[in-house]
Amino acid sequence: MRLADVELFDPDTFVRGVPHDAFKVLRAEQPVYFHPEPSGPGFFAVTKYDDVVTIGKDPGRFSSARGGTNIQDYPEEHLSTIQLLMLNMDPPQHNKFRRLVSQAFTPRMVAQLEPRIRDAAKRIVDRVAPEGHADFVTSIAAELPLQVIAELMGIPDEDREKVFDWSNRLIGFDDPEFQTSLEDGKNAAMEMWMYANGLAEERAGKTGGDLTTLLLNAEVDGARLTEMEFDAFFLLLSVAGNETTRNLISGGLLALLEHPAERARLIADPKLIESGVEEMLRWVTPVTYFRRTATQDTELRGVKIKEGQKVVMYYASANRDEDVFPDGDRFDVGRTPNEHLAFGVGQHFCLGTSLARLEIKLVFEELLRRLPDIELAGPVRRLRSNFINGTKELPIRFTPQKR
Ligand code: HEM
Repeated sequence: MRLADVELFDPDTFVRGVPHDAFKVLRAEQPVYFHPEPSGPGFFAVTKYDDVVTIGKDPGRFSSARGGTNIQDYPEEHLSTIQLLMLNMDPPQHNKFRRLVSQAFTPRMVAQLEPRIRDAAKRIVDRVAPEGHADFVTSIAAELPLQVIAELMGIPDEDREKVFDWSNRLIGFDDPEFQTSLEDGKNAAMEMWMYANGLAEERAGKTGGDLTTLLLNAEVDGARLTEMEFDAFFLLLSVAGNETTRNLISGGLLALLEHPAERARLIADPKLIESGVEEMLRWVTPVTYFRRTATQDTELRGVKIKEGQKVVMYYASANRDEDVFPDGDRFDVGRTPNEHLAFGVGQHFCLGTSLARLEIKLVFEELLRRLPDIELAGPVRRLRSNFINGTKELPIRFTPQKR
């Protein structure tokens, strides 16, 4: 791989796998690399760990709001809509919105969910165990995050499939299987917003422990959330926790299948599960990048960046940076320290970190114990996306277990 062959924008690159060879070349030769864009102004691809941290911790200089957090730019009217998501806000507004929901995601609150999440993980494995085969993505990896977030949001069981479909169409915007156009993504968002409004009407005036009710009663600067703000929150919480955790669980299983000695280590020593989960997060890095926009003329590692230019933090590359992770291309379930950036860094550090970690741990505990001989039963199909490191299909087989 030569610098001239690096292509990080074309989603087809990622269908073949995360381009770690390209990231390696960039880290070595041009860690702040100006990458062309077919119908856009281009962006700086930032691939070193320290630079990603610098950007993530400096929202004053590198804004999430100004152009959103995806590489592509949006028309003004679309941009103002996505700016309703706290993901695409800057301080001080960001802090006000984040504060509304952060309480629900503290490690202490999440720990209280453990028995219910464990039960859900058990039931999911119970259902496939007698079969001897499954598509791991839909039967297992997608199910747990979906059930957990649906419960947190107070979404009734019979509506959960709809949420699954909307979030596929929203995030799979470059994959023709999920979405045929940007238009379809907008439709999915619209349908979800209408659904959220319906749920809001039903909950109005009620008290309850779910996040939907909490948001309905929440205030920013002394005022209730507008309908649009509420809808945006609903959408962000429903989508952010689904795709990411699903793809980590699928990618994590694949890593174990490709590294049988590491799987054997985890089975032999269940105490390794915590470091194993962190290594899966580093290895898979479900969110490949998030973008920021420079708010002023500035410099990064000696490279001049102009106000308004796009800067893209490649977590997938930072998590293999040889200056931070010795032997980073080795999957090591006992790796310590492991300060990976799979959950981002700074102001927008993933809100769902504790929840995701718990879900991943509980599902793998269950799988390693109950279905220890899972093997690949067919070709793995990857999501066509330069943004999400996703798996669409992961056929598995195993010795069937009695009910
Ligand atoms: C393995 C699973 C997950 C991964 C890899 C992941 C990754 C990330 C990353 C990289 C960010 C940073 C965004 C930025 O800097 O612009 C983020 C933010 C966020 N995540 Fe996660 N996430 C995961 C699970 C979850 C879960 C379970 C939830 C639950 C609702 C969640 C909710 C959020 C929210 C709401 C934000 C925005 C926070 C803000 O803007 O302040 N995530 N996530």
